[in-house]
Amino acid sequence: MVRPLSKNNNCKKVIRHNSPYISKSDLKAVSDSINTGWLAQGSKVIEFEEALCRYMSDGQNTSNLSGVAVSSGTSALFLALKALGIGKGSDVLVPTYACSALLNAVYWAGATPIPVDVSTGDFNPTFDMCFNALTPTTEALVLTHTYGVPVDTRIYKDLGIKIVEDCCQSIGASFDDRKVGLVGDIAIFSFYATKMITTGQGGMVLSHDKNLIDQVRDYRDYDGRDNYYPSFNFQMTDFQAALGISQLERLPSFITQRSKNAQRYIDAIGKDSETLLQLGAEDASPNWYRFVLKLGSRLEDCKMVFDQNRISCIQPVHNNELLHKHLGLPQAHFPCSEEISVSVLSIPVFPALNETQICRIEQVLSDLFL
Ligand SMILES: Cc1ncc(COP(=O)(O)O)c(C=O)c1O
Repeated sequence: MVRPLSKNNNCKKVIRHNSPYISKSDLKAVSDSINTGWLAQGSKVIEFEEALCRYMSDGQNTSNLSGVAVSSGTSALFLALKALGIGKGSDVLVPTYACSALLNAVYWAGATPIPVDVSTGDFNPTFDMCFNALTPTTEALVLTHTYGVPVDTRIYKDLGIKIVEDCCQSIGASFDDRKVGLVGDIAIFSFYATKMITTGQGGMVLSHDKNLIDQVRDYRDYDGRDNYYPSFNFQMTDFQAALGISQLERLPSFITQRSKNAQRYIDAIGKDSETLLQLGAEDASPNWYRFVLKLGSRLEDCKMVFDQNRISCIQPVHNNELLHKHLGLPQAHFPCSEEISVSVLSIPVFPALNETQICRIEQVLSDLFL
């Protein structure tokens, strides 16, 4: 039974669906960087690349891990595909329940995207779904660890194709105590404004394979060279990198806060939580990039209740945005993604939520589901 809308709802401030979490130390890092007078790509970018490698290695030896900071997650994916030699004549598997950035990167690399359905459990493609989509010219899979719920990348190695781990949403999530991004051939990250950590816009390519990383770096550092070939400007600025370093230091606390918020929502939902949540495997430790509810036919009603309580929620991938729809492929081949796209609602879980806001969200959840 949903509580009637109280009169004060109109006075309540809207809770945003997602928001960056910028601290005084972040601001100081950016202004210190700008005050050096070096604004373009420089030493801070190198520092950020090294910091991400250290973070990914859990403080262990990072000598066999290298990173290249770039202008966005999309450019990171494009560059990763190029470095892997994916281009004209190559097919690339992509989850259809994903953002169109995946299509853009594959197309700009000159390859052909092959959308794959995803599981209604964790919203990632299963091994069998990928296997069944293989063509004679499939050379790579982009694995997104959707909404920060990680899958066991090791399983997909048996497909016998290159694996790009797209960690744009899943930085800091781990599977079997190992951070996502370390098992595939190459990993990419996004630091867009509302991602787990931000540089405004930005991205990173990471790999154990130094040869791949050297190729990405070579493509990005287009200027001042004697072996000209057409490349592009994919660079990040030093002040963006300064923000990235500062945010990365705070990432463990962001994940802790997101998990605490998520746990409170799970408690507020109560016994229904198993059926309502995006569930990963037992060994999966999500980073709670999103907290999504599987609402089925209750979606519109629940959305209205959140709206009335001035809590912004979104359907992250709308039905008309499914990648197979963009390609004009029959929806019957993607039944699970079709279902998820019309039945899933994402509610605010970001770490900058204050206690009052979390209590408001908890209240609506328990009114709706308890
Ligand atoms: C899974 C995934 N891949 C790639 C991207 C592209 O990243 P960016 O927006 O930084 O280009 C995004 C971000 O929207 C994403 O969520």
